[in-house]
Amino acid sequence: MTNYYPRVARGVHSYPLDESVPPSERFGLGVVGLHEGRTALLAALRTSRVRPVAGCDLDSDAIANVRADLPDVSFTTSYAEMLADPEVDIVGIYTPDPLHGEQIIAAFEAGKHVVCTKPVVNDIETAKRVLAVSRATGRKLMVGQSIRFFESMRRQRAAYERGEIGEVEVVETQYTHRMDWYYDGRPWIAEKSDWVYLGMSHPLDLLRWYLGPIESVSAVGSRSALARDNGASSFDVYSVNALTADGRVGRAFGHYGIHELPLARNSIECLLYGSDGTSLAKYHDMQYLHTGTDGVEHVEDMLYEYRHYHFNNEVHGMHYGEFANYLQYFADALVSGSDYSPGLEEGLETFCLMEAVRRSATDGGRPVALAPLLAEVGLSR
Ligand SMILES: NC(=O)c1ccc[n+]([C@@H]2O[C@H](COP(=O)([O-])OP(=O)(O)OC[C@H]3O[C@@H](n4cnc5c(N)ncnc54)[C@H](O)[C@@H]3O)[C@@H](O)[C@H]2O)c1
Repeated sequence: MTNYYPRVARGVHSYPLDESVPPSERFGLGVVGLHEGRTALLAALRTSRVRPVAGCDLDSDAIANVRADLPDVSFTTSYAEMLADPEVDIVGIYTPDPLHGEQIIAAFEAGKHVVCTKPVVNDIETAKRVLAVSRATGRKLMVGQSIRFFESMRRQRAAYERGEIGEVEVVETQYTHRMDWYYDGRPWIAEKSDWVYLGMSHPLDLLRWYLGPIESVSAVGSRSALARDNGASSFDVYSVNALTADGRVGRAFGHYGIHELPLARNSIECLLYGSDGTSLAKYHDMQYLHTGTDGVEHVEDMLYEYRHYHFNNEVHGMHYGEFANYLQYFADALVSGSDYSPGLEEGLETFCLMEAVRRSATDGGRPVALAPLLAEVGLSR
């Protein structure tokens, strides 16, 4: 038991574990891309169904950094070599966005299941090919939509599923973050990606998760001084209005060139307006706010309880707990054969939503329907 929590002061786990699973029956995890992927390998130690077995990165410094924490894991600079390793059952993909698609296809063809960080892909052609190979091989993929697995968001979702706020009528989400540090050493951000696939993947996924299928979006965007200074080709400010087939609205906002975030706001917020109540979940502060039937507002603040598990005593905003939660959840689903979310098709639908937002914003706010994009990728509703 103590092995599951290296360097964690309190052994609180925010996800139910089956402690009886012997290590030999745990899925072997091999991770490609050992920056954010380092967290995934370490997070596997906090699960009862996944064990870290392999890591791959082109950069030997990145490998050395993870090897120091995980001396028993085998490391390579060759992705093909990692895929050939029979110890690897699940491949975790944490490389720059434009590489995800080809790496997913290679993993499926090698017979592996996949956990891929968000965004699962960032272009239509690759989306089509990934879907086709997944159908041909029958391999499973879960999208690592980390925010869904943060404790405050999990509580908000559980309360919604218990019917505590009735039908969701409006959803308002946001993710704002000063990203000067994130441009450093990552030329792919400015050159080969778009903030709609990076930061906006969180609030747009939350919108879809609560509203269900989105019919159309209308979005505008702009570039902050930070984006201009870093030569970003995409907007880094997005404001999105989304409409569902049954006429409900959602709003998502993202800004990746802010200065300070006022204390009253959180980096990621998900505000649900339901027919019977309203609720708000926050990240990084780990707060869930809702109003009881007595009219009293309740603020559940679980940061002190879970900060070791979620942040590993490192920076407020690391993803250990979220990654551990989704690895455990995916592995449980592989064993039981039950449905899980978000799978590949849902991830590709979110990709289509992001793509519709990008097209609308590039075109000055023109409404863009999702159906033609979904059809192009090969998804039907
Ligand atoms: N909340 C989250 O879940 C979250 C947070 C941050 C980043 N991400 C995602 O994680 C991914 C990686 O982000 P990052 O910040 O770690 O990027 P990064 O550029 O800092 O790190 C990428 C790593 O991949 C390695 N790499 C690149 N090409 C490779 C290849 N062909 N084979 C093997 N290794 C290769 C690089 O050497 C580097 O170590 C992105 O898709 C990003 O969107 C998710």
